[in-house]
Amino acid sequence: MGESARDGRQGHQDLLAKLSLEDKVSLLTGADFWRLRGHPGIGLRPIRTSDGPAGVRGPRWDERDTALNVPAPVALAATWDPRRAELIGSLLAAECRRKDVDVLLAPTVNLQRSPYGGRNFEFFGEDPVLTAAMGAAVVRGIQHGGVAATVKHFVANDSETQRFTVDAQVDERVLRELYLAPFESIVCQARPWAVMAAYNSVNGHTMTESPMLNDILKDEWGFDGVVVSDWGAARTITAAKAGLDLVMPGPTGPWGPALAEAVRQGVVSKAALDDKVRRLLRLAERVGALDHGARDRVVEPDRAGEPDRAAEPWTDDRAREALRSTAAASFVLARNEDSLLPLNPRPLRRVAVLGPNAAVPRTLGGGSATVFPPYRVSPLDGLRTALEPDVIVGYSPGVRSHTRVPLAPRALLHLPGSTGPGVLVEFVAEDGTVLDTEHRAGGFCTWRTLPEAVRSAHLAAVRVTTTVRASTSGTHVIGCFGHGRFRLTLAGKLAFDTYLSVPDGTDPTEAHIRPPQRCTAVSLQAGQAVDVILEHHVGNLGRPTSFVLGGVSFQINISEPYRPDDEEIVHAVRLAQAADVAVVVVGTTEEVESEGFDRATLDLPGRQDELVRRVAEANPRTVVVVNTGAPVLLPWADTVPAVLLTLFPGQEYGNALADVLLGRSEPGGRLPVTWPESPDDLPATMPSDGKLAYAEGLHIGYRHFDRAGRAPRYPFGHGLGYTRWEYLSAEVIAPPPAGRAAGGAVVRVRLRNAGARYGRETIQVYASRPASAVERPVRWLAGFAKAEAPAGAEVTAEIAIPLRRLAHWDTPAGTWVIEPGDYQLRVGGSSRDLALPVTITISPGDSGC
Ligand code: BGC
Repeated sequence: MGESARDGRQGHQDLLAKLSLEDKVSLLTGADFWRLRGHPGIGLRPIRTSDGPAGVRGPRWDERDTALNVPAPVALAATWDPRRAELIGSLLAAECRRKDVDVLLAPTVNLQRSPYGGRNFEFFGEDPVLTAAMGAAVVRGIQHGGVAATVKHFVANDSETQRFTVDAQVDERVLRELYLAPFESIVCQARPWAVMAAYNSVNGHTMTESPMLNDILKDEWGFDGVVVSDWGAARTITAAKAGLDLVMPGPTGPWGPALAEAVRQGVVSKAALDDKVRRLLRLAERVGALDHGARDRVVEPDRAGEPDRAAEPWTDDRAREALRSTAAASFVLARNEDSLLPLNPRPLRRVAVLGPNAAVPRTLGGGSATVFPPYRVSPLDGLRTALEPDVIVGYSPGVRSHTRVPLAPRALLHLPGSTGPGVLVEFVAEDGTVLDTEHRAGGFCTWRTLPEAVRSAHLAAVRVTTTVRASTSGTHVIGCFGHGRFRLTLAGKLAFDTYLSVPDGTDPTEAHIRPPQRCTAVSLQAGQAVDVILEHHVGNLGRPTSFVLGGVSFQINISEPYRPDDEEIVHAVRLAQAADVAVVVVGTTEEVESEGFDRATLDLPGRQDELVRRVAEANPRTVVVVNTGAPVLLPWADTVPAVLLTLFPGQEYGNALADVLLGRSEPGGRLPVTWPESPDDLPATMPSDGKLAYAEGLHIGYRHFDRAGRAPRYPFGHGLGYTRWEYLSAEVIAPPPAGRAAGGAVVRVRLRNAGARYGRETIQVYASRPASAVERPVRWLAGFAKAEAPAGAEVTAEIAIPLRRLAHWDTPAGTWVIEPGDYQLRVGGSSRDLALPVTITISPGDSGC
């Protein structure tokens, strides 16, 4: 638990001396949902935190506080480009500074152990080496901007089912080589200022009380930052002994006076308490929260002399361009028969843009990663803007993919008694007094912390009033979702008065994202208006409202008239028949991919597979664009000419898509996760009796497919560009031990752009050791690099292979070991497209790392 050399004032000893036991203890539990406590006596102002990886939401959970929506981590990972990830990290830091946020609760570096994981979009894929590289780059970008990164969730929080209670049973070697590996690499190389302890248990210890916090994270890896609990993950005083430093959220929690008493009794040592406070003060100093200090802007020593892009100011244009080019660089062209893509825009006269995600795309995943972007460019809008004005763009959603009534479209909502947009929110006391009001743009009603005027009074109800003006004639379905009592009045008549109840044990995030819903149908003519009053009675019937983590949360839901799927498919097919090209944008919804729950199926929701098949039959020039944060099954994949996997690409989605489809940008992505062909090919990864056995051991993702000898739909690392590459040669130029000074071996690869246009390639190096004395994956990613070259040109890349990438964890010895002997390296463009073999030989004296 060494002191950081950077700490001023001998580890803040002078400040510690000014704090009483009670003061110290009070600093170690949050002040509220997002803020830490300040202490004016020592010049400490409250430190502010915010989620999360897809943008910086800030303290409000609604449209009033917009945030740039950057590509989700899985999309960043698909760029395989740490420099780009660092740039996005620096954009996140700029957003934090704009919003007065000191600590960003990102990046998430758990692994996509199973495609069913609800939060997979928030991870950097299934491989620890790729995850470590991208995670470290994001941390550097954030902290370079003077903002703390929080690497989460430590550890084995790779799925959502029973995440608060599940006990992951993970073999020590598997933990070290897979799940701890990204944390280790990031902590040791990028030096994050905070790490978040997960909700779950590992091998019998809940993670906020796990011996891994002190023994591995702090003592072995030298982590000098703050270990913060995931929100609501701290349960007992034991966590204070185990190495947890900060309980979030506040203001109450398991520590407080109980911790002071435990220190007085000697149950928790004074030294342990002081260490926590010192870490907190170090964090405060780093983010400029102490004595009005400036933020530390961490500059990597090895970057001296390089242009410092992260330090350039983020203008709106620069941010837009970074988001657009990063999204394009993340798109994975999985299939492109007869070079259908890129489309030549000149002969295009009619384009059909189809599918449920064409106009309503997903640019981020659900849960705490949610942000409210200032705008979102849909594929439909992006293509309309990019195509010449005389091109006729036909649109149909084709089918419905939502099973619930979605959030009310803002365009329908008008302030009562005015033509202005929005809804009126009133916070009402028992006696009917209105305690506070808000004029809001939409029906998304979430308050993690209630407004000041409401907090101090006794809130009885939240009333939302709006006038819904129909833009089309037909059946509108109007209602709400939430937890508690809801009264809906339409045009002065009570439509329902009901109690919506979330079953006990429901994950709080699931309760927030998809609680029970009640709706009613009403027939409206275009232009017709109806007054809507939704009253949510808080805390009635003696039952708790909202969710475990407190606050109030509900939505006004409206669906506009829609054609039945059978008719809409016929419409889509007609548009496709008449078009020069059909672009079908399929995907998941927020009902399916979110924090708080895992997916129950890998199928695309609704009748989207049927839509793709019917459109492809109608038009042989069909491009299928898949908009999901994790793999889905694509049963039609071999029957359509082009498949582009676009993941969750952030707010510039549509512009980036148009760039790639029309050949203005290269589809730069390579898969950070294996896409299975069938669910039968996957190992079981669900908990049973509260335990989650990581029974597949080292063999997750591509390692599993390689071992089982099965072909996935699309392999890890796969992705086509608009050119072809020939791998010419590979050689080890700095074999160990000589290469050790540089951190290992270096492989030099020569390749040629054998196509007709400029291109970018991701060169991947996989290691294997068939004659190993220990169990090994068939092959594993050992290094990668980006290369780019104009048509016909040759390019050389040097790829570092640190010795640790060849090592295994020797559990009895409790250390990393490199077996002496030969390691085969294969170099190529994906885990299943490897051309050039090279050998690294480790001599017996070279087995440390
Ligand atoms: C999530 C964290 C998040 C926190 C605060 C938790 O439920 O697991 O990732 O940072 O909430 O929103």
